[in-house]
Amino acid sequence: PLMKELFGLNQLEAELKAFLGVKHVVIVPGDADASDWVKKEMGRAGARYLKQQAAPEQIVAVSGGTTMLAVAEMMMPTPAFKQTTFVPTRGGVGEAVELEANYIASLMAKRTGGTYRMLHIPDELSDEAYQTLQKEPHIREVLDLLRSARMVVHGIGDAKTMAIRRKSSAEVLAKLEAGKAVGESFGYYFDRDGQIVHRVRTLGLDLEGLERVEQKVAVAGGASKAEAIVAVCSLVSQDTLITDEGAARAILKNA
Ligand code: G3H
Repeated sequence: PLMKELFGLNQLEAELKAFLGVKHVVIVPGDADASDWVKKEMGRAGARYLKQQAAPEQIVAVSGGTTMLAVAEMMMPTPAFKQTTFVPTRGGVGEAVELEANYIASLMAKRTGGTYRMLHIPDELSDEAYQTLQKEPHIREVLDLLRSARMVVHGIGDAKTMAIRRKSSAEVLAKLEAGKAVGESFGYYFDRDGQIVHRVRTLGLDLEGLERVEQKVAVAGGASKAEAIVAVCSLVSQDTLITDEGAARAILKNA
């Protein structure tokens, strides 16, 4: 709290909360674009928040990405976490394995003593594969768990950065550019007004399922994600945003 007052972050949190219409905002000092240490601090703040909110026998849906990895790395065992099931929000998305939601869910379980489930599905499914896999009992079971999640904790990506990181086709890149996509979450790419420009076809938590989740927690920072954060918050009724000073100042500057 003292550090926060020194940096004037309490005031910034209140302004950002009002601007985005998010119930809780936590801002860590610095800018994750400039320093990895700031991402680690967001991870620490995220882990602390999840610990405070945890309830016994809960299902927590978890997305992928470097920020979520930072959250997972800061998690510790608690009695409620030991009764928690961590479930990935979707299958593989063509990223490094340690950035996949599967790996992050398993790491959270390992660090906290909880349990986890996996969604072993490749990225960018064909129509046929999508229909078939959806009916697989193993996959069905995990999709049902996702639908009963009490909490979802997820990253928000800059659209172009994510498309390149996932080695998306030239066609998809052109579509994102034409549609002026700025942000990505849950495999959906959005423009600055929160309109969907493109969706990666994979099985997992979709927007409809997301709406039913009681608590939605986003963890994303760095000034470069300012537009992406605004876009995702305007589409998803976010409960909590854990971010950094760089993103917060950039969002409010353009407000
Ligand atoms: O969907 C969003 C991305 O997973 C965010 O990834 O935390 O590595 O920027 P990042």
